[in-house]
Amino acid sequence: MKIIVTGGAGFIGSNFIFYMLRNHPDYEIICIDSLTYAGNLSTLSSVINDPHFRFYKADIRDREAIDRIFAENNPNIIVNFAAESHVDRSISNPGIFLETNIIGTSVLMDAARKYKVSRFHQVSTDEVYGDLPLDRPDMLFTESTPLHTSSPYSASKASADLLVLAYHRTYNLPVTISRCSNNYGPYQFPEKLIPLMIINALNNKKLPVYGQGLNVRDWLYVEDHCKAIDLIIHNGKIGEVYNIGGHNEMHNIDIVKLILKKLKKSESLIEFVTDRKGHDLRYAINPEKIHNELGWLPETSFAIGINKTIDWYLSNCGWWQEIVSGEYQNYYKKMYGDNK
Ligand code: NAD
Ligand code: DAU
Repeated sequence: MKIIVTGGAGFIGSNFIFYMLRNHPDYEIICIDSLTYAGNLSTLSSVINDPHFRFYKADIRDREAIDRIFAENNPNIIVNFAAESHVDRSISNPGIFLETNIIGTSVLMDAARKYKVSRFHQVSTDEVYGDLPLDRPDMLFTESTPLHTSSPYSASKASADLLVLAYHRTYNLPVTISRCSNNYGPYQFPEKLIPLMIINALNNKKLPVYGQGLNVRDWLYVEDHCKAIDLIIHNGKIGEVYNIGGHNEMHNIDIVKLILKKLKKSESLIEFVTDRKGHDLRYAINPEKIHNELGWLPETSFAIGINKTIDWYLSNCGWWQEIVSGEYQNYYKKMYGDNK
């Protein structure tokens, strides 16, 4: 079995590659990544010389390069993680989100049609459903919740989902889509809430919390997401969408306080800052479909997952220090000003 994994030098893609090489030692994994600011080849250093792994630096928008890689490898399955993934960046610069997340997905699907792959899996997000009210804990996203996006990022992901379903209906491309809630774990780029707060706390810098920190996200340990995708690409029904979530809703402020407590830092480091434009209030997934059809359940509790994640950032300072010392500084200043 040959699987092309796009975006494999990023957070979830790299964790998925490790998961697949561990759990399917006879598979060949071919990674395509253009190594944007969010992609890091050092993340893949433990597998780069694995005879079952191959890396291509290529952009999913580059039709010729993608065609060449498909021709050389004749893959069975494509799992598309490659994307611009950060909501805040999509607010300041939407164009690249449309190009990578929509056009890039269509380029990959054209190659998937031409080389007759047996599965094209699109890694999507719960953000395509928009948000839920804070005071209606009974309301959850199901696969039939209407798409109702808030940010250029989520609109680009929803557009890609529609395109994926259209390629299935029009060309009979064998597709599946998964829509997952917020992931956390090793190798997450420090622009996202959990790693940003861990690293700022370690550096005794202010922890910038948007608004009052009352927005709710449904957190899932990244390995549980990888396991769900593995199940879907093997046993999921063609043409179907699967929601993935941890039944683990938390207010942002509670996560930030928990991180400070675990790192033995003072809550005085918290700084409430201007809210994100169009900030979604609450995400919450109903994962019944993937549970009933494929037997998937999240295995890592938040209590265990957050300890593992904090320990990982403590033991892998070299990985994130290299990131935060480079171009990241310009991004940080633009986003948060001279936050000390
Ligand atoms: P990430 O930003 O950490 O990684 C994205 C990767 O894609 C990077 O390695 C980057 O170099 C690569 N990439 C970007 N543009 C590319 C292009 N044009 N060509 C080739 N490679 C390109 O993202 P992530 O958090 O790992 O998310 C992966 C996928 O999962 C995304 O599609 C995202 O929408 C989705 N998702 C993320 C979460 C989450 O909580 N992080 C939750 C649900 C879904
Ligand atoms: O739900 C899935 C989505 O989760 C994925 O599709 C996205 O790719 C991923 O980035 C994530 O989106 P969010 O916007 O929810 O994640 P982020 O880590 O950026 O923010 C989580 C919450 O924390 C959100 O309510 C905004 C808040 N926040 C974030 C940052 C970076 C802050 O309060 N301060 C911050 O500095």
